[in-house]
Amino acid sequence: MRSKKKDNPINILVLGSGGREHALCWKIKQSQIVDKLYCAPGNGGISEIAEIVDIKSDDTEGLLKFAKENDIDLTVVGPEAPLTEGIVDRFEKEGLVIFGPNKLAAQLEGSKVFAKEFMYENNIPTAPFETFDNIDDAREFLNHVQFPLVIKADGLASGKGVYISGSKKEAEEALKQIMADKIFGEAGEKVVIEECLKGEEASVLAISDGENYVILDAAQDHKRIFDDDLGPNTGGMGAYSPTPVISDTMLVMVEEQIIKPTIDGMSNQGTPFKGVLYAGIMITDEGPYVLEYNVRFGDPEAQAIIPRLKTDLVEIMLASCEGNLNKIRLEWENKACVCVVISSSGYPGKFQKGKEIKGLDLAKTKPNVYVFHSGTKKEEETFFTSGGRVLGVTALGRNIEEAIGNAYDSVELIKFDRCFFRRDIGAKALKYNRQTRRVSGRI
Ligand code: AMP
Ligand code: GLY
Repeated sequence: MRSKKKDNPINILVLGSGGREHALCWKIKQSQIVDKLYCAPGNGGISEIAEIVDIKSDDTEGLLKFAKENDIDLTVVGPEAPLTEGIVDRFEKEGLVIFGPNKLAAQLEGSKVFAKEFMYENNIPTAPFETFDNIDDAREFLNHVQFPLVIKADGLASGKGVYISGSKKEAEEALKQIMADKIFGEAGEKVVIEECLKGEEASVLAISDGENYVILDAAQDHKRIFDDDLGPNTGGMGAYSPTPVISDTMLVMVEEQIIKPTIDGMSNQGTPFKGVLYAGIMITDEGPYVLEYNVRFGDPEAQAIIPRLKTDLVEIMLASCEGNLNKIRLEWENKACVCVVISSSGYPGKFQKGKEIKGLDLAKTKPNVYVFHSGTKKEEETFFTSGGRVLGVTALGRNIEEAIGNAYDSVELIKFDRCFFRRDIGAKALKYNRQTRRVSGRI
């Protein structure tokens, strides 16, 4: 790899096309050590800050050819699918530098059976579980359990492979869909059946070089489509960071009980984890439990975390690739950040595309507001919708109240036909703060 000195800046290729990748490109663009920034395949918003490359993120050979021909010094993988398919292994075999876990390490997200067995072996707190590769055995198991319980397809299922079953009948239907009807294809050849946990959810992300790691400030996602966490799960309708759900004491517990044993456990079994380790956590009365691992930045967690990060993200990613993360100390803006997702009405089901988006220029000029694009395309100077999640309107504030106010003031400026957004992003933090104050007796 070429030197990363300011006088010899590097070229970066980001893979992906969502709000997460827009936030990554936005942050990378601010780095002093970057020359050219490319994004494949990108989106309308990303096209304003990076050169768009018309290659899909699953076209490994096409991306490899592009990276070689364009002197790419660092490739950054946004979504999980290329990682679980082994893009890192392929690039590294050709001597290219790429940020993310290899295929074996990416199994932490790519196979829930692998992840659960890994946690069991390494004493990492997670819901009690059984795994099955046969529907008859799984059905029989339902005779000996209490409901509700959770049934999960083993492989990647775009966030739709998790069923919370309130009764045996619902559980049987879930097993039928996953294992008999195979609605997720091969991803449903095995299932995990696990106890249903109660508590508050949060996302804790760490970046590792295989041995060392740094922990990012925690975030809270809002997975359900409607206010008050009603309706079906989505990719995430908004996020905020930091979150009072993860107090300093809780973060120490998460680090000691989850992050460190995960990084150490992966290293000890010969599959060191490099890249972003995202632990989806349930804070229960007995402490933090892992619901799932992801092996990349969350979307929209990235949009709520990255604007608060003062440290150069490119330096962090290079340190992850080079094994130098012990030399990095993260610095954060002492501010809160809220990202409100504006989606196309109908999402996560069917929705229309091609709607003209108005008000973006006005929203963009507000101080401390960043509009990260997810599903947009740009034609001439006009933006149109092209996906379920369309924009992530993100704002900083001195505290969570102010950040919420700033984000929603800008959300109100943006309009397209049949747009939809939740009105309660960040509200849990306010509620949590009020409850904590009551408990501790402060005003
Ligand atoms: P996952 O993809 O495994 O994170 O699951 C998606 C969502 O399902 C999580 O964000 C939780 O809301 C819920 N979930 C998953 N596992 C459990 C569990 N064991 N108990 C309760 N809720 C769960
Ligand atoms: N926001 C949840 C995820 O990125 O998986």
